[in-house]
Amino acid sequence: MIDAAAFCEEAVRKLRADVPGRAIVAASGGIDSTTAALLTERALGERARAIFVDTGLLRAHEVETVSGFFRASGLAFQVLPAADRFFAALDGVTEPEEKRRRIGETFIRLFEAEADRFGTDRLVQGTIAPDWIESGGALRDTIKTHHNVGGVPKDSRLVLVEPLRDLYKDEVRAVARELRIPASDRQPFPGPGLAVRVNGPVTPDRVRRARVANAIVEEEVERAVAAGALKRPWQYFAVLLPVRTVGVTGDNRVFGEAVSVRIVDSIDAMTAVAMDVPRELLARIAERVTRELTQEVVRVLYDVTDKPPATIEWE
Ligand code: XMP
Repeated sequence: MIDAAAFCEEAVRKLRADVPGRAIVAASGGIDSTTAALLTERALGERARAIFVDTGLLRAHEVETVSGFFRASGLAFQVLPAADRFFAALDGVTEPEEKRRRIGETFIRLFEAEADRFGTDRLVQGTIAPDWIESGGALRDTIKTHHNVGGVPKDSRLVLVEPLRDLYKDEVRAVARELRIPASDRQPFPGPGLAVRVNGPVTPDRVRRARVANAIVEEEVERAVAAGALKRPWQYFAVLLPVRTVGVTGDNRVFGEAVSVRIVDSIDAMTAVAMDVPRELLARIAERVTRELTQEVVRVLYDVTDKPPATIEWE
C-alpha cells in the first residue's frame, strides 16, 4: 500500500510542473476523478476548474449529489448539460467498443470547447492503472477501451494530465481518505455510465429503465448491508439486456425486456467474484423491478459469473 500523504505531496509538485497556467478537470463525481480534482485544486487553486458533464447516462440523483459535494469543496465547478449530444452520438450504436469510442470523443469535444473558454489546453483526468492496462496499455491485450483512454481522438489539442495513472483503486481510496473526500468507499461507476449497462441500443427510454433498475439494486443492497445480511459488495448494479421475453401482468401477456443483477466482490477490479447473496434480497429486487417497470421489464436474472472469465460490467 502507498504512503498517501507522501503521494499527495508528490502529485501536487508534479501537477504544478505539468500545468504552467490554468487547467480544467474532468469530474464525474466518482472517487478517481474527485481525487484528481482535489489534488489539482491543492496544486493550482483558482487556476483549476472542474467540469461535470451531465451525459444523460447518469444514475438517479447523481447530478444533485455531485454538485452538492463540489459546491462545498471550494473548487470552482460547473455542470455542463449534454444529454442530447450523447444520445445523438450513440444513435444506432450497439457494439460496446464503438459506444466507448463515441462517448470518449463526445467528452473530449465538450472539454475542448470548455478549455478554450477557460484559456487552457490542459485537461486533468482521473485515469487509474486498470483503465489503461485494460485498454491495451504496455503491449497488453485490449479487454475494453476505457472511455478516458481510447476515446481521445488523435487530433485533439488537449494535453492530458493524469496524476493517478499509476494507482490501483484501493490506493486511490487511501489517497481520497487522506484528502477527506466523503464516501471514499462509494462503489465504482463506469465513466461511460448507463450506456454500458444498456446492452444493445442506447435510447432515452432504455436508459431510464436501466436507471430505475440500478437505483432499486443499490437501495436493496444497501438496506441488506445495513441490516447485517450481507458484506458490503465491491459493486452492485443492474444491466438491461438486449433480449425480448414473455411475461404476464394480470391476465395479459407482455413481451418485455430482461434485467440482470450483478453483485460482485473484488479488491482492485482486476479480478472479481460473483457474491452469494440472500435469496430474499434477489426476490425483493425482482419484485420491485418488475413492479416499478411494469409492462416494460418482465424478467430478472442473477449473474453468477466471476471475473475472469466475465468482466464486471457487461460491456
Ligand atoms: P470491468 O468491467 O472491465 O471493469 O471488469 C473494471 C472496473 O472498471 C469500471 N469500468 C470503467 N470505469 N471507465 C471507467 O471510468 C470505463 O470505461 C469503465 N469500464 C469499466 C467497472 O465498473 C469496474 O469497477
